Amino acid sequence: MLDIQKLQCSRENKEFGREIHYFREITSTNTHAKELARKGAAHGTVVIADSQTAGRGRMGKSFYSPAGSGMYLSIILRNAFAPKDMLAVTACAAAAVHSALEQFGITAQIKWVNDLFLGGRKICGILTEGGFSGEAMEFLILGIGLNIRKNPDVPAELESILTDLESETGLQIPADALLEAMLDTLEEAFAGLSERRFLSVYMKHSCTIGHRVLLVERHEEALAVGYTRDAGLIVRHDDGTEEVIRTGQARVMD
Ligand code: BTN
Repeated sequence: MLDIQKLQCSRENKEFGREIHYFREITSTNTHAKELARKGAAHGTVVIADSQTAGRGRMGKSFYSPAGSGMYLSIILRNAFAPKDMLAVTACAAAAVHSALEQFGITAQIKWVNDLFLGGRKICGILTEGGFSGEAMEFLILGIGLNIRKNPDVPAELESILTDLESETGLQIPADALLEAMLDTLEEAFAGLSERRFLSVYMKHSCTIGHRVLLVERHEEALAVGYTRDAGLIVRHDDGTEEVIRTGQARVMD
């Protein structure tokens, strides 16, 4: 259980988390954050829940969000982003969550574009969604789902895909400390977004670069060789040509 009053007080002079909306259960923190943003909620407002009944992932997938096992949060960003920035925003957030975990002695791997892995399985997913007014993007919702401890009822089909911080490290990290660390590293990472400061961490801890990947929607394999400054994935095809991938999934094969 989070002590939201205390957290908000400690973040009075910060950008992220000055206002926090906390729920035991919600459909999706991204959906609620979007509603708040449409009503004018400030940049940096956080929506956090112990569980989600309709958590969303990238590519229209659902995100498993049971009670007692994870941290599910969304942050309203009102910087002047354009749709083309969304990949960089997602990658920047992944690098920031990585840095927060480092503060607790945990070194995760970052899988393009939005996942953090430990021991070969996923511990965190990130979903960035735009709020549009006509053609213009009014705000962004940055959604982060982090698996903290094992859920005994995890469906069999997710067992081999998902893991959590406690199972992989034996650490029981207090939720308040983890949230505070994440809000700090996210705030810092976003302050350096235009200079792409996140790229060094993002590249150093990549478990995608140097590996063959399956471009899932294209049913095609290629070698992942690098990232562009906007976090596009540079792949080399078997005929030697290179291409930048900005949409879809790249599944690491080896
Ligand atoms: C993915 O793995 O494809 C992204 C998952 C993002 C999940 C988070 S949990 C908090 C926020 N609310 C949602 O409905 N989704 C994001």
